Amino acid sequence: MLYPELFKQLESVRWDMDKDIPWGSFEASKLSDEQAQTIKMNAITEWSALPATEMFLRDNKDDSDFSAFMSIWFFEEQKHSLVLMEYLKRFRPELAPTEKELHEVRFEFEPAPALETLMLHFCGEIRLNHWYRRAAEWHTEPVIKHIYTTLSQDEARHGGAYLRYMKRAIGKFGDEAKAAFSKVGVLMASARRTAQALHPTNLHVNKALFPRDTIQSRLPNPEWLEQWLDTQINFDSGWESKVVERILHNMSLLLDRSFKSVQELNRYRKELAATLVAAGAGPQPRSA
Ligand SMILES: [Fe+2]
Ligand SMILES: [Fe+2]
Repeated sequence: MLYPELFKQLESVRWDMDKDIPWGSFEASKLSDEQAQTIKMNAITEWSALPATEMFLRDNKDDSDFSAFMSIWFFEEQKHSLVLMEYLKRFRPELAPTEKELHEVRFEFEPAPALETLMLHFCGEIRLNHWYRRAAEWHTEPVIKHIYTTLSQDEARHGGAYLRYMKRAIGKFGDEAKAAFSKVGVLMASARRTAQALHPTNLHVNKALFPRDTIQSRLPNPEWLEQWLDTQINFDSGWESKVVERILHNMSLLLDRSFKSVQELNRYRKELAATLVAAGAGPQPRSA
């Protein structure tokens, strides 16, 4: 079981809401209305760990180790939402999300293959780590800069924890796990954002509720994410390639083979799919 060790590790570096956030250093003149609005949207997006946890627990009923780890992940993500709300309550109370706005992002996700979801969230944590690092640079007010840096470090650790479960899955399921990880890896590392930002909160997860079946579509301002990335924190191609590099680096370690580009990972994915089909074990190959 990985849960006891991850519990220890994550507890030893956990920050304290009162003591570790320098609330006293707040400088009102350095926070614009535009910046404060984006904090509200991030607070609501972080709240979506709630429906994600409900999905994880439902889709991992036969995995008590991972389900126990969810208690840590859920706690830390809700705390991210809480610290952003605490900031707004103190310094821009009119922008603190209402309970109704938070509840809007709680809806049912359709059941999905557990291994693909795991990889999706691993990539999501890597991406969010980079988004928050950029947000910390973009913000000018010192307390919120500190908060985004703190959150970005948590997201990196979450990615590390998911990676441990991915390693374990390869030991348990072999090529089936490798196929799932490389498939989602190719999707999530497809360089340069295309039509939409590639993050779990921006993917459609329930056909019956389409088009309001992404977390982002249920925010008070559904267009916010693209705006935040493109014109506010300016998440440009240089940053995008850092995300892709991190994903490829970790895939190389995990799959014990070097991937220098998404194309190489895609080639590996196709080889593996062909092997699985030849063995009669895998899905039909899809052209890509
Ligand atoms: Fe978070
Ligand atoms: Fe996270």
